[in-house]
Amino acid sequence: MSKSGPDFYDDKTVFETYLTHRRTPTNPNDLLESPVFAALVGPVADLDVLDVGCGNAGYGRELLENGAKSYLGIDGSKNMIEASEHVLAGTMGRTILSTIEDYAYPAASFDLVVSRLALHYIENITRLFQQFLTTLRPGGRLIFSVEHPVITSHNSMLPGQRRSNWTVDDYFVTGRRETNWLGGQVVKFHRTVEDYFLALQTVGFVVESLRESRPDRDNFSDVQEYERRRRIPLFLFLAARKPD
Ligand SMILES: C[S@@+](CC[C@H](N)C(=O)[O-])C[C@H]1O[C@@H](n2cnc3c(N)ncnc32)[C@H](O)[C@@H]1O
Repeated sequence: MSKSGPDFYDDKTVFETYLTHRRTPTNPNDLLESPVFAALVGPVADLDVLDVGCGNAGYGRELLENGAKSYLGIDGSKNMIEASEHVLAGTMGRTILSTIEDYAYPAASFDLVVSRLALHYIENITRLFQQFLTTLRPGGRLIFSVEHPVITSHNSMLPGQRRSNWTVDDYFVTGRRETNWLGGQVVKFHRTVEDYFLALQTVGFVVESLRESRPDRDNFSDVQEYERRRRIPLFLFLAARKPD
């Protein structure tokens, strides 16, 4: 049976497989997601940061080391929050166990809201963007990455197999998808690129940047892996600002 995002990461086998996956040197998060995310975020000195779907808060530690004034991560997985307490030990960073949907986003409290690879687990993205707008101070920024819509459109992943082909299908049939991943089944929500963009504009954000995970040859020691990652975009990124 397919699980929601937090329940999926609370499955012992999935969680261990996820950690192993993240530690492999060719993991797409490090090779493709992190470089673009870092470029979009830029300097973080003196910023109050909210990280939505923070996982083990490894990014929180990095933000604090780079001068962020404060860091608050929220995640619905007990496994992730437990891991985050070790990762943030000795820092001023904090995490809270909460679903993204149920967190009471306090008004005008953050300069930067980030979310990395979590929002494709959320059904009602417009409501959430409205909450992000409320919780940001005027001029504050929202930066997020999600699984690219060409990936979420269609579940062509066979359990336990390395993909050699991708199918984009039902692209404009948005909504719930059940996907095999990391030895489990999880529910994701497919939206088009346009849906993300328009939802930001509809609630009042000014969209400042849209990026895809175009691979940078310099980040790859293995040329075959580089060529493989040039076939299809894995991630989509958007950066937006709350008007002053
Ligand atoms: C792919 S992991 C990414 C973690 C972290 N942002 C990173 O990039 O390392 C997705 C995270 O989103 C969390 N998540 C997914 N859906 C959620 C929800 N509805 N409420 C709270 N957390 C959720 C999961 O528990 C998981 O930790």
